Amino acid sequence: RTDPLVLGIETSCDETGIGIVRGTRLLSNTIASSMDEHARYGGVVPEVAARAHLDELVPAITAAVAEAGIRLDDVDAIAVTSGPGLSGALMVGVGAAKALALALNKPIYAVNHLVGHVGADLLRTGTDDAEEPLEYPTIALLVSGGHTSLLLVRDLTSDVELLGETIDDAAGEAFDKVARVLGMPYPGGPHIDAAALTGDPGAIRFPRGLSKQKDMAQHRYDFSFSGLKTSVARWVEQHEDAGQPVPINDVAASFREAVVDILLTKAVAACVAYDVPRLLLGGGVIANRRLREVAAERADAAGIVLRIPPLSLCTDNGAMIAALGAQLIMAGHEPSSLDFGADSTLPV
Ligand code: KG4
Ligand code: ZN
Repeated sequence: RTDPLVLGIETSCDETGIGIVRGTRLLSNTIASSMDEHARYGGVVPEVAARAHLDELVPAITAAVAEAGIRLDDVDAIAVTSGPGLSGALMVGVGAAKALALALNKPIYAVNHLVGHVGADLLRTGTDDAEEPLEYPTIALLVSGGHTSLLLVRDLTSDVELLGETIDDAAGEAFDKVARVLGMPYPGGPHIDAAALTGDPGAIRFPRGLSKQKDMAQHRYDFSFSGLKTSVARWVEQHEDAGQPVPINDVAASFREAVVDILLTKAVAACVAYDVPRLLLGGGVIANRRLREVAAERADAAGIVLRIPPLSLCTDNGAMIAALGAQLIMAGHEPSSLDFGADSTLPV
């Protein structure tokens, strides 16, 4: 089946994402975020996210179908994120996808959210057709408020290996927690990024957890950010207790530098160890200016081809889920049977 028309549903966290693709061509990508509702709690509240999906799903589907210029009945298949993510949030999307598949009598594909992020790279809008999709195998570094994962992707539809993931906080979560320490609003990543612009990244040497070369030599690529977060909090507290002014911009820049260093040291080490000179970035933290800058420098120095999809496709969205569904169909995979559930810890 070439170029199937697929509607993708993504509800693993706070974004209600509906995307429609024809093969690798992006037709529409509608996103409604409940972030504003979570802001006053300082983090995503699972039940609030699930309720918001229930409110937003049907309007998002209607909007995506209209924008794509299709009729709902035209789609060849439905693809939906079945995990990993917040259980209640996933359940809303999975339930809606099954109902749609049954009502339209179309096949359904349950897909993994993290693999979906890799699928985002395939999407073409029609203006960037000159750019070839990334070849496989590739290493993918996915960093958001919910995940920090390093994947070795040999084949998008059949062979994805998790090389490492965070053992505590996600990188975006660390940004958000440190931002709170510095008195910035939630989500704090963009605020830290802005403050760091005028700070000195070398002002304070914060610890880089789990970054021993020895571990990486043994193919251990897990991440840890909670020690870093605690170290920043303690540094700020000590200065406040001593009545000294806290150089917020220097703290922001030094913290940001540590996160970027941790992420890219491992990603590049994996590229080298597996002899895979391709690195794909994804997730909302990719908006970070320093991360993009250092990624470009280090990739260049190591002879690695770096790929960063447009930000609208890096943050959680339905189009990447639809794109992965289309790849599964084109690779001849069978649809999922309707008895799959939502799995908050779904492995890749
Ligand atoms: O992928 P995403 O939009 O959604 C979820 O994870 O749900 O990622 C949001 C995360 C938040 O933690 C936010 O603080 C972080 O990405 N983020 C950033 C930047 N922009 C967003 N972190 C660092 N620098 C940024 N410029
Ligand atoms: Zn994500």
